[in-house]
This record gives sequence, structure tokens and C-alpha cells, in this order.
Amino acid sequence: MGAGLTIVDAARHINGVVDVDLTGVSCTDCHGSAADGTPAPPQDTTGNTATAVRGVGAHRSHLGTSGWHKEVVCTDCHLVPASVTATGHIDTALPAELTWGALATADGATPTFSGTSCSVYCHGQTLQPGGTNITPTWTTVNGSQAACGTCHGLPPGGTHVTVTDCSMCHPTTNASGTIIQPAIHINGTVELVSNHPAGWSAPTSHGMTANNTGFTNCQACHGADLRGGVVGVSCESCHPGWQTDCTFCHGGVDNATGAPPAAVDGRTGRNTIAVGAHTEHVGSTSMHVAWDCTRCHNPKPTSALSPGHIDGDGQAEVIFDWMNPSATYDPATGVCANLYCHGNGSSRLGTADWNTNPTLQCDSCHAYTWSSKADLRAMSGKHEKHVRGKGIACVECHATVVDSSGNIIGLPLHVNGQPEVSLRRGGRFTPGSPPSCNPACHGNEVWL
Ligand code: HEC
Ligand code: HEC
Ligand code: HEC
Ligand code: HEC
Ligand code: HEC
Ligand code: HEC
Ligand code: HEC
Ligand code: HEC
Ligand code: HEC
Ligand code: HEC
Repeated sequence: MGAGLTIVDAARHINGVVDVDLTGVSCTDCHGSAADGTPAPPQDTTGNTATAVRGVGAHRSHLGTSGWHKEVVCTDCHLVPASVTATGHIDTALPAELTWGALATADGATPTFSGTSCSVYCHGQTLQPGGTNITPTWTTVNGSQAACGTCHGLPPGGTHVTVTDCSMCHPTTNASGTIIQPAIHINGTVELVSNHPAGWSAPTSHGMTANNTGFTNCQACHGADLRGGVVGVSCESCHPGWQTDCTFCHGGVDNATGAPPAAVDGRTGRNTIAVGAHTEHVGSTSMHVAWDCTRCHNPKPTSALSPGHIDGDGQAEVIFDWMNPSATYDPATGVCANLYCHGNGSSRLGTADWNTNPTLQCDSCHAYTWSSKADLRAMSGKHEKHVRGKGIACVECHATVVDSSGNIIGLPLHVNGQPEVSLRRGGRFTPGSPPSCNPACHGNEVWL
């Protein structure tokens, strides 16, 4: 068609095709705004400008530079026609086609638009749970769906660490949680920083930090097993086998059990509370066998990563096992009370000071001045009558534990949680309530 309604190309007239010449037509002639310089609605192709209309929706709040996220462009959601007549552009009826770009489909996301709401990578489709609105409504444009916490938790849930200062691990925000690098926020990649200070590879730096603050932070980047994780640096690369090497961080000076000395901070002095009376307990003496750590640290860790072990509280947990059910330990004073071990040889009251070092004697635990009536009366049954009254030695009734000189000969039976009675001259002892004896010396008698 030429000026004045003349047919200029008769071959294309009445040929079954409506020909439209779009040469010189601008993108904003049919949608968007020439004044704003963008073909993005509003207005939409049917002239609407209200964001409540599907053709307009949240276009403008996505596009353009932003102070908190990477710039969103048409190709994130549409195939943009190279020209007005490009295939796929105006050749179907509304609604407009959504052809998702690389960002919307990042991390394996499969974007959908229901006509009302979207589910895409950007709004957290594939992220760890915790975002309060990961299917935002396209026509709700009031900022509520762009608030922190809508697409992912602060921090995310699931296996993500619960630390709230994002800047420790992500360069995206500062310590107050403000986005300082919008270009890398919602860009399809989770950015991590290594905020390790200079000299970090020294054991006094990274090692003491880990020992004092625990592994939770390290695990976020180096992996739950600390063998690489998202940053691919395994602790094993420098010290293989460390997690089950019990003298790697403490102990190793007096013995190889892992018990201090040395303490975690390297100190070895016996009057250091972390050192205290370990050596006397974890090694055997003339009075007892070597105690396992479980007597006082129950359960005993089996690896550096055992729950409750290196937990960042800077305090060794003293938890007694079955043999000392009522015992307490006061870390402020280093005093244990209500101990069975130091008491129920009836009795020196069951208190013991972890840091003083008295030479341990029989009467450290027993009411043991054999001649004292009061002391012997503190012991069970007929002790006073036999020991003080008749001068009968301990060995007569505890022959498997002591010899006639009062030396402990049955170490595994002494301080093992129960009294052993063994009559040297023969006869029978029947435990129970009450216990009774039928010794060679006299007939059957109850003990209590
Ligand atoms: C965040 C995703 C997103 C981006 C980015 C985006 N759009 Fe859209 N667009 C949509 C959605 C959703 C619709 C509505 C589709 C429907 O109605 O099913 C739409 C519809 C349209 C329509 C049809 C309007 C009507 O009348 O129904 C046009 C035209 C359009 N977009 C152009 C653009 C242009 C041009 C850009 C870039 C300047 C752009 N869009 C960027 C999501 C987007
Ligand atoms: C003659 C009017 C007209 C012009 C000029 C025009 N468009 Fe469109 N555009 C439409 C219509 C109508 C739709 C909705 C198409 C549909 O429903 O598939 C649309 C849809 C779109 C969409 C959404 C994706 C799609 O294909 O549905 C984009 C993006 C788009 N146009 C970009 C452009 C760009 C860029 C230009 C300039 C090169 C342009 N448009 C020029 C009428 C126009
Ligand atoms: C101690 C380190 C650490 C801190 C602190 C931290 N993150 Fe992360 N974050 C990571 C690591 C490592 C990843 C990648 C592995 C993963 O997804 O768990 C990650 C992943 C993410 C992801 C992607 C989750 C996904 O499912 O892919 C988001 C979103 C995120 N963090 C947000 C935050 C926010 C918000 C904060 C602060 C409130 C925060 N993070 C604090 C270490 C941390
Ligand atoms: C529209 C959804 C959305 C909103 C709203 C949002 N985020 Fe994110 N955020 C993401 C996505 C998606 C990621 C995944 C990593 C990526 O693609 O950058 C992410 C990642 C992060 C990360 C991890 C580091 C990174 O960028 O990779 C931090 C930190 C973070 N967001 C903080 C915030 C803060 C703070 C706010 C509020 C100001 C916020 N986010 C609001 C979608 C959102
Ligand atoms: C670049 C090498 C290197 C890497 C990687 C490394 N370390 Fe170390 N670390 C060392 C060296 C060297 C020592 C001292 C080893 C020794 O005394 O036998 C050490 C010692 C330690 C100690 C003992 C500190 C002390 O003195 O009691 C701890 C705890 C420790 N590292 C934790 C870690 C953790 C956790 C990781 C992984 C997140 C890690 N290390 C990764 C080099 C490294
Ligand atoms: C935000 C992630 C992140 C966290 C959290 C993190 N690291 Fe790292 N770490 C890295 C990265 C990335 C590297 C490798 C690049 C580097 O050396 O900075 C690394 C390297 C190391 C190295 C080797 C240093 C060297 O000079 O070769 C050690 C040791 C280490 N980390 C220990 C730790 C310990 C211990 C913790 C916990 C207290 C921890 N890291 C927490 C990311 C992290
Ligand atoms: C008789 C009780 C007892 C036994 C047995 C015992 N411990 Fe301890 N342990 C303690 C007390 C008490 C502390 C000091 C707690 C405190 O710091 O207040 C302690 C502290 C520790 C500490 C912390 C050191 C530090 O630097 O903070 C380590 C490590 C430790 N014990 C390891 C062991 C190991 C390993 C064994 C077994 C081989 C063991 N202990 C056996 C009572 C015991
Ligand atoms: C990576 C360093 C490291 C390694 C390896 C390690 N420990 Fe520890 N251990 C510590 C630290 C640090 C403490 C102090 C605990 C605290 O602060 O809560 C501790 C405390 C203990 C305690 C006192 C009870 C407690 O949990 O607080 C016992 C018992 C103990 N360790 C036994 C072991 C045994 C057994 C092994 C070997 C399987 C071992 N440790 C390996 C660092 C280590
Ligand atoms: C005439 C036998 C006899 C003599 C002698 C004897 N005991 Fe006992 N002893 C017993 C009996 C019986 C029990 C109670 C066992 C039971 O309750 O199961 C006992 C229990 C004990 C207990 C457990 C705590 C208590 O008070 O019941 C201790 C400790 C003990 N004896 C130490 C000694 C010492 C030390 C001597 C030497 C000074 C000694 N006994 C002499 C018979 C004797
Ligand atoms: C650390 C505290 C402690 C010391 C020191 C100690 N005892 Fe005991 N003794 C006990 C306890 C507790 C019992 C209770 C029974 C048990 O658990 O074996 C006991 C029980 C006994 C018994 C009863 C037999 C038995 O083992 O059941 C005799 C006899 C005995 N002790 C003799 C001695 C003599 C002799 C000495 C000094 C050489 C001595 N004890 C030092 C704590 C101690």
C-alpha cells in the first residue's frame, strides 16, 4: 500500500496473508514507555499501566540497577526479539512467552509462572529452606516480597551454619547485614570469603582458634568432616590422622593417654587446673589401677569431632561415671565433693582437691586410725568390734585385697565400686541385706 491508497505490490494483495510493514516502528510503540526509554511494561500491550495487571506486574521493580542485587534484564525471563518481526515475538496471542535465562535456572532450578506467582532460582526455589515467601506474586508490588528473609533465611536453614554475621563468610554483606556488593547478590553463585588473617597456618593461630571456639565455623567452609568441604582445603592435608590422635592437642608429656600435662594451651604445671592430678589418676599406683578418662569425662571422646568435646566453651566437661553417682566438681575451686572413690571407704567425707598434691595414704580415704573408736564406728557393722575390740587385721576378712602388712595386693578389687570380703581362715560371707558371715572363727552372724 502506497500513499493515496495505491496498491504498490499487487502480488502480495489478496494472497491469503495480511502483510504488515513494521519498518521504523520503535519497540516502545506497542509496550513500555518511550519517555522512560524502556520497552518493559508499563504500559503493557493492551495499554494497562497498573501493576495489579498481569501484563505490567513487577517489571519495573526488577529492571534497572539496584542497591541490593545484580541487575535483572529482559533475557532473564524472556527471549528478546532482535526485531519486531522476529520469530516468536508477536506471532501468538497473549500471554507473552516466558523463556527463562541462565540466572532463573541456576543451581538446577526449574522455573514456573502460574499466571499469578513465580518459582525461580532468584527467589530461593533451590536454596536451603527458611525463606518466608519463595513463590512471590507477580502483581504484588509493595516491597514486601523483596525483604531480607523472604527468599532465604537469615541465615538459611537446613545444613547451613546458624551464625548470623554473614560477613564472616560472605563478601556480599557487611557485619551489620547490609548488602555492600549488589553485583554478586543473586548472581547464581554463592560467594565465600576466606577471612583468614596473615599467619593463619601457624598452629598457634588457626589451631588455638579452633580449640578455643570449636569447629562449627570451620565446618561451614571446610566440610562437616573437615576434609575439604566447599573450599576444598582439608585439614588432613597438613596433619593427617589428627582427629583420633589424642596427644595432638593435649597430653603427651607424662604419658601417652592424652591426659594433661600438657594442657590444651601447652601449660604443664601441676597447679594449673587443667593439669591437676591427672597423672596420679590415669596411671596405676600402689593403691589403684589406672583409671580410664570415663571415670571423670563420661563419655570419653573418640575423635576430635565427638559431640561435646571441642565445643567452644573453653571448659573441659567433668562428668562422672557410675562409680561416683552423686559426685560434683566445682571448676571455680577445683574441688570435688560427694565422691565415692575418696569417701566410701567410710569415710573421709568424699571431698578431694584436684590441685593440691598430698601424698595419698590409706587415711586419705578411710577413717583409718584403727585405734579410734569413732573412726571405726563410721565403718559398717562389726568393724569396730573386730578391729579395735579383738585386734583382728584387715587381711583376715579382706584377704584378696590387702596383705598382712596392709599393702594392697588386689589392685583391680580396690576402689572398684564394691567391698570385697574374703575370709582368710575360711568360712562363708553372704552379701545382701543384711550381709552375714559364717566364718571358721565362730558361727553364723549378721554383719550389720
Ligand atoms: C522477572 C521476569 C521478567 C523480566 C526481567 C521481564 N519480564 Fe516481561 N513479563 C514477565 C511476566 C511474568 C509477564 C507476564 C506473562 C503472562 O502474563 O503470562 C511479562 C510480560 C511481558 C509483556 C507482555 C505484556 C502484556 O501485555 O501482557 C511484554 C511486552 C514484556 N513482558 C516485555 C518485557 C521486556 C521488554 C523486558 C525487559 C526490558 C521484560 N519484559 C522483562 C516477566 C519479566
Ligand atoms: C507492533 C507492536 C510491537 C512492537 C513494535 C514490539 N512489540 Fe514486543 N510484543 C508485542 C506483543 C503484542 C507482545 C506479546 C506477544 C505474545 O503474546 O506472544 C510482545 C511481547 C514482547 C516480549 C515478551 C516476550 C514474547 O515474545 O512474548 C518482549 C521481550 C518484547 N515484546 C520485546 C520487544 C522489543 C525488544 C521490541 C523492539 C525490537 C518490541 N518488542 C517491539 C508487540 C510489539
Ligand atoms: C561460618 C560461615 C558462614 C556464615 C557466617 C554464613 N554463611 Fe551462608 N554459607 C556458608 C557456606 C560455606 C555456604 C555454602 C554451602 C552451603 O550451602 O551450606 C553458604 C551458603 C549460603 C547461601 C546459599 C544456600 C544454598 O542453599 O545454596 C545463602 C543464601 C547464604 N549462605 C546466606 C547467608 C546469610 C544471609 C548469612 C548471614 C545471616 C550467612 N549465609 C552466614 C557459610 C556461611
Ligand atoms: C529476591 C530474593 C532474595 C532476597 C530478597 C534476598 N536474597 Fe540474599 N540471596 C538470594 C539468592 C538467590 C542467593 C544465592 C546466591 C546468589 O545467587 O548470589 C542469596 C545469597 C545471599 C547471601 C550469600 C552470599 C552470596 O551473595 O552469594 C547473603 C549473605 C545474602 N543473600 C544476604 C541477603 C540480605 C542481607 C538480604 C536483604 C537485604 C537478602 N539476602 C535478600 C536471594 C535473595
Ligand atoms: C597449611 C597446613 C595446615 C592446614 C591446612 C591445617 N593445619 Fe592445623 N596445623 C598445622 C601445623 C603445621 C600444625 C602443628 C602440627 C604439629 O604440632 O604436629 C597444626 C596444628 C593444629 C592444631 C593443634 C594446635 C595445638 O598447638 O594444639 C589444631 C587444633 C589444628 N591444627 C586445627 C586445624 C584444623 C581444624 C584445620 C582444618 C580446618 C587445620 N588445622 C588445617 C598446619 C595446618
Ligand atoms: C568462609 C569460609 C571459611 C571458614 C569459615 C574457614 N575457612 Fe579456613 N580456609 C578457607 C579458604 C577459602 C581457604 C584457602 C584459601 C586461604 O588460605 O585463604 C582456607 C584455608 C585454611 C587453612 C590453610 C591456610 C594456609 O595458609 O594454607 C587453614 C589452616 C584453615 N583454613 C583453617 C581454618 C580453621 C581452623 C577454621 C575455623 C576456625 C577455618 N579455617 C574456617 C575458608 C574458610
Ligand atoms: C579423676 C578424674 C579425671 C580423670 C580420670 C581424667 N580427668 Fe581430665 N580433667 C579432670 C579435671 C578435674 C579437669 C579440669 C577441669 C577444669 O578445667 O576445670 C580435667 C581436664 C581435662 C582436660 C582439659 C585440659 C585443658 O587444657 O583445659 C583434658 C584435655 C583432659 N582432662 C583429658 C583427660 C584424658 C584424655 C583423660 C584420660 C586419659 C582424663 N582427662 C582423665 C579430671 C579427670
Ligand atoms: C584438635 C585438638 C584435639 C584433639 C585431636 C583431641 N582433643 Fe580432647 N580436647 C581438646 C580441647 C580443646 C579440649 C577442651 C574442651 C573444651 O574446651 O570444651 C579437650 C578436652 C578433652 C577432654 C575433657 C573432657 C571434655 O570433653 O571437655 C577429654 C577427656 C579429651 N579431650 C579426650 C580426648 C581424646 C580421648 C582424644 C583422642 C580420641 C582427644 N581428646 C583428641 C582438643 C583435642
Ligand atoms: C571381721 C571381718 C572384717 C575385718 C577384720 C575387716 N573388715 Fe572391712 N568389711 C567386712 C565386711 C563383712 C564388710 C561389709 C561388706 C558388705 O557390706 O558387703 C566390710 C566392708 C569394708 C569396707 C566397705 C565400707 C564399709 O564400711 O562397709 C571397707 C572400706 C573395709 N571393710 C575396710 C576394712 C579395713 C581397712 C579393715 C582393717 C582395718 C577391715 N575392713 C577389717 C569385714 C571385715
Ligand atoms: C583413693 C581413696 C582410697 C585410698 C587412698 C585407700 N582406699 Fe581402701 N578403699 C577405698 C574405697 C572407696 C573402698 C570401698 C570398696 C571398693 O570400692 O573397692 C576401699 C576398700 C578398702 C578395703 C576393703 C576391701 C575392698 O577393696 O573392697 C580395704 C581392706 C582397704 N580399702 C584398705 C586400704 C588400705 C590398706 C589402704 C592404704 C594402703 C587404702 N585402702 C587406701 C578407697 C581408698
